[in-house]
Parts: sequence; C-alpha cells; structure tokens
Amino acid sequence: MPNHFLTIFDIPKEEALAVVKRAHQMKAEGLRLDTLAGKTLLLIFEKASTRTRVSFEVGVRQLGGDAVFIASRDSQLGRSEPLEDTARVLTRYADGLVVRTFGQHKLDVLANYGDIPVINALTDEYHPCQVMSDMLTMYERTPELDKLKVAWIGDGNNMAHSFINASAWFGFELAIACPEGYDPDQKILDKAVDLGAKVTITRDPQEAASGAHYINTDVWASMGQEEEQRIRAEAFAGFIVDEAMMNRAASDAKFMHCLPAHRGEEVSEGVFESPASIVFDQAENRLHMQKAIMEWVFSK
Ligand code: CP
Ligand code: NVA
Repeated sequence: MPNHFLTIFDIPKEEALAVVKRAHQMKAEGLRLDTLAGKTLLLIFEKASTRTRVSFEVGVRQLGGDAVFIASRDSQLGRSEPLEDTARVLTRYADGLVVRTFGQHKLDVLANYGDIPVINALTDEYHPCQVMSDMLTMYERTPELDKLKVAWIGDGNNMAHSFINASAWFGFELAIACPEGYDPDQKILDKAVDLGAKVTITRDPQEAASGAHYINTDVWASMGQEEEQRIRAEAFAGFIVDEAMMNRAASDAKFMHCLPAHRGEEVSEGVFESPASIVFDQAENRLHMQKAIMEWVFSK
C-alpha cells in the first residue's frame, strides 16, 4: 500500500511534530539529499499555483528526483478522460503524484486506482501541505505549539479545515471567526474535535483575535468561487485583518496568510507590510516542508 498524504491526519499524530522538526533541520542545514534519486513525481494541477508548484518542483530536485508538470487544460484530463483511467496510466510512468484539484474525492480516486503515493497540493476541502508549512513557521518562533492561541479570520475554507486538523495534531487553540453561512464543514470539524482539536467558532472577529499569538486569514473567494466574489465581499465586511484587529491580539502577535493576498479585502496594506507580517517566511517554508513531507511519504 503506498503512503498517501491527503490530509494532515495521514501523518500519525505521534509523527507530526517530527516532520515539522525535520523540515526545520532541512532549512537550517540546507540539506541536499538523495531521498528521491531515480524517482519521478508528476505534478497534476487543475488550478493555478505559484508557491506550491515551484516549491514542489525545486524540492523534488533538491531530493535528487525529477518532476514533470501537467496542467489539466493541456492534458486529456481537461477533456474528461476518467480519473480512474488516468490513475492507472500515470502509475506506470511515475513514482508519485502531487495533485491540485477541486473535490477531495478526486484524490481518493487517484489513490485507489493508482499504486503510487498521492500528495494533496490543495483541494476545495483541504490544503495540508500549506498548513504543515505554517506549523514550521510557527514552530521556528514559538516551539511550544500546544501553548498557542491561533485565530482564523474569514472563510471556513480549505485552509481553515487544515488548520482545524492541525489543532488536533499540534494542540493549539484555534479561534475561528467567520460570517454566518461560511462556517467550516461540520463533519470535518466534528472529526477533528473527536481527535482533540480545540476549536471555537464565533461571528465576532475581534473576539477571535483577542490575545491570539497568530492571526491568520485567506482570500474571501477561493479558486473556483470567482463568481461569488461580490456577494462574498459583502458577507465578509468587517472581517478585514487591520491594525485595530492586530491590536486586540497578543503584543508580539504575527500576521499569517498563505498567499496570494488581496490587500484592502481580507488584510489591510498596513498589516500586510508591517513587521508583524511573516507571510514571506511562510512562503519560503513551503520548500522546506514539501521536502519533509516527501521524505515522510517515501520513507514508508
Ligand atoms: N499558498 C499557495 O498554495 O500558493 P499557490 O496557489 O501559489 O501555490
Ligand atoms: N483558499 C485559497 C487558498 C489558495 C492558496 C484557494 O483555495 O484558492
């Protein structure tokens, strides 16, 4: 059975912090490894990407392997060749798939019909590689992750869901503020809470931000929701992370965003460019964490 990374829960809880520490070590020591020597990973992207694509392509090479990028619009995937068939073809060429797509169920099909590892590079439901990398960004500043309060301000989206899972695995308190109608998925929340996630949900972003060590947000309309942009902008009025909200947080609180960001919508220009903003460290850490994730996936 190949070892997949489809959600953060695929890494056993007792191994999750070790993966973060390994990424930290790779970053500190600039390790060049041969973990993927002789291996080729296929990157299949059905949505746009800058950070995830490039950090995987570079990361694969830094681990001694090869990466081949496939955009769905240029391949038969964009012409509706069934995923079941695509999985059985690609599995004969490659050693692993890194996939960015819409429904999480598509990853399950690829995992079930292929016999090579599948890594989730973002779906509508989850963004586990990003949030593992965010754990590294928090860990390198505040190693005791289980003593932290993290605020999630905005949409109960793929990023929020992966933060909810991370709360269960890393033990921090997660205060989510989202407008009515934009809550995280109840099933995802229930499962994570059963596994120990410490999550509160409020309609009041100032309350969620209060005393938080990290303030996180994301775009109000994710990829695939572009047509809802206007209605979402109305629903999310009052959810901008601005200077007043940062002032409610802990005195040394940091601002986090997975990027790309829309200044003047979910975050003010001033907060985005302030010393409290660690968004480019987050982006850098994608590379180090992708390598630690691939090492975990291929070492099993
Ligand atoms: N944060 C993130 O996943 O960025 P990209 O969409 O550029 O990959
Ligand atoms: N929630 C965003 C994250 C982008 C990295 C999206 O899915 O578009």
